[in-house]
Amino acid sequence: MSFKDKIDQQKLPEHVAIIMDGNGRWAQQKGKLRIYGHRSGVKSVRETAEAAAELGIKFLTLYAFSTENWRRPRAEVNALMKLLVQTIHKETKTLHDNNIKLLAVGNLEALPDVTAKELREAIEETKHHDRMSLILALSYSSRWEITRAIQKVAKMAVENQIDPAQIDQDFVGKQLAFGNIPDPELLIRTSGEYRISNFMLWQIAYSELYFTPKLWPDFRREDLYEAIVDFQQRERRFGKTHEQLTK
Ligand code: FPP
Repeated sequence: MSFKDKIDQQKLPEHVAIIMDGNGRWAQQKGKLRIYGHRSGVKSVRETAEAAAELGIKFLTLYAFSTENWRRPRAEVNALMKLLVQTIHKETKTLHDNNIKLLAVGNLEALPDVTAKELREAIEETKHHDRMSLILALSYSSRWEITRAIQKVAKMAVENQIDPAQIDQDFVGKQLAFGNIPDPELLIRTSGEYRISNFMLWQIAYSELYFTPKLWPDFRREDLYEAIVDFQQRERRFGKTHEQLTK
């Protein structure tokens, strides 16, 4: 029996975020170069996106490249940027055919021109789609996002555009790069690491965290279904007691 049959359609998370980890180790285990792991990870991206859209998930965020990843060896960074361009180029039609909107969150100005251009075009071409949004976190980190938001709000205050007393949690959330996108109910990390690595720190305040030992290139639809079934078995209390929720 597939985990898919155990999914309760009424309790689907609206937004699932994934820290795709383990590409390098996967390749090294096979005696190959790290980039071979990244290339193989594209299949997992495709399968996960298709499965999420078919289930009816509205937002899928993938941590594709962090602010810290710029520190990797030049050759790996270049190869990753090239892979991104190729994948976006190749998959735009699949996004079209599946009515999926592509979005990107992060310091996109830091991306090489050709990557940024390919990305902008795919975003533009898919902007009217509404089955699911596939959000790539690219050159992204939470501390970058929060710092940028504070700079923006400080400027607004200095220019008398806002009264600091107006600032509430809703306002803060909207200044962040994820803006109006709802917070993820479920965050998945692959590769057996129990870390958040500077990812969506504000937005995961109440997310359920799911860690799997699977390395990203081995992650398949069934693994997504399993994570969702696990999520649906949890009681989300948001600070309340069990009794308050079941009364
Ligand atoms: C983490 O594995 C993975 C990345 C930094 C890159 C993820 C990129 C892809 C799957 C390629 C294409 C993606 C899209 C969205 C088109 P790691 O290198 O940190 O692995 P390790 O921890 O084993 O070293």
